[in-house]
Amino acid sequence: MSHHASFTTFLAQLSPTNIFAPASTPSDYIYDVALLVFAVTGAIFLVVAGMLVYVAVKYRSRLGDTTEPLQVYGSRQLELAWTVLPVLIVMVLFLSSARIIHAVQDARKPKDAIEVVAVGHQFWWEYRYPQYGFVTANELHIPVSDPQHPTPTFMTLLSADTDHDFWVPRLAGKTDLIPNHPNFTWMEPHETGLYLGQCNEYCGTSHALMLLRVYVQPRQEFDRWVKAQQQTDLSGEGLSHDATEGRKVFERTACINCHAIAGTIADGQFGPELRHLMSRETIAAGIAPNTAHNLRTWIQNPDALKPGARMPAMGLSDQELDEVTAYMMALH
Ligand code: CUA
Repeated sequence: MSHHASFTTFLAQLSPTNIFAPASTPSDYIYDVALLVFAVTGAIFLVVAGMLVYVAVKYRSRLGDTTEPLQVYGSRQLELAWTVLPVLIVMVLFLSSARIIHAVQDARKPKDAIEVVAVGHQFWWEYRYPQYGFVTANELHIPVSDPQHPTPTFMTLLSADTDHDFWVPRLAGKTDLIPNHPNFTWMEPHETGLYLGQCNEYCGTSHALMLLRVYVQPRQEFDRWVKAQQQTDLSGEGLSHDATEGRKVFERTACINCHAIAGTIADGQFGPELRHLMSRETIAAGIAPNTAHNLRTWIQNPDALKPGARMPAMGLSDQELDEVTAYMMALH
């Protein structure tokens, strides 16, 4: 491991959203231009602050000294220097930023790129994989990219309601999801792992509870995950008695107006697809571990975990809650 790589790992351990620990091509670019801007503005700060301190000390008022310091007016050299230098500095910063914006925004999509359509919802993320024909929610899986054979992930960003913002700092810069205006971004991760982020545009009461989780996996592991997500056959699973009853409750209440479960009559579009709910580590856009207890709490009253959640409490009895939870726990 190179010195630079281990320092990056250290920074990532300090914060999983550290902008100084890039792990993907677009965030590498942004990191480089950020360092340049810090170097230039840091140098300006040192020069200005240094001169200020020097002048304040050298020309401080002394007891009994009533003479005025030398007054300088209209020095052509000075005026030229403080006009030309800032213009040059601004040009350098402008051109290097423009170069990075071009490199990120106009990157060509290689033929082996993974395509994902992300849709922002109040307050969760929908992920569609059009190449593979399935839909999932909140936990994005993408393959790590081998420089010899790049497999970046190119994303189309949409919104179902209001403005959201996709920002996983270690993987890419931030990009808004705006209704009726598709935006685009891409990630090319060099290392496997879990990368965290957060919705970065205020979108309502639970904006702060709209977390991003990106699982960067070795290619084979990603392919296995895709295969499992494509599976829609529920019949072979031998649902328990409770789960079977839970499925009946689920299918006769308004649940199916909002949720889809591939392979069943549930085909709602407003909430997350649930067919492989148990393949996710968290629920409600990353705010709680995906356990039976949390699922039951969520189904009973989503507002208790996420104020302003669009999902209503259905007023189920304790028994119905247990049964629906059992059904959810069977959705592997
Ligand atoms: Cu979605 Cu803020």
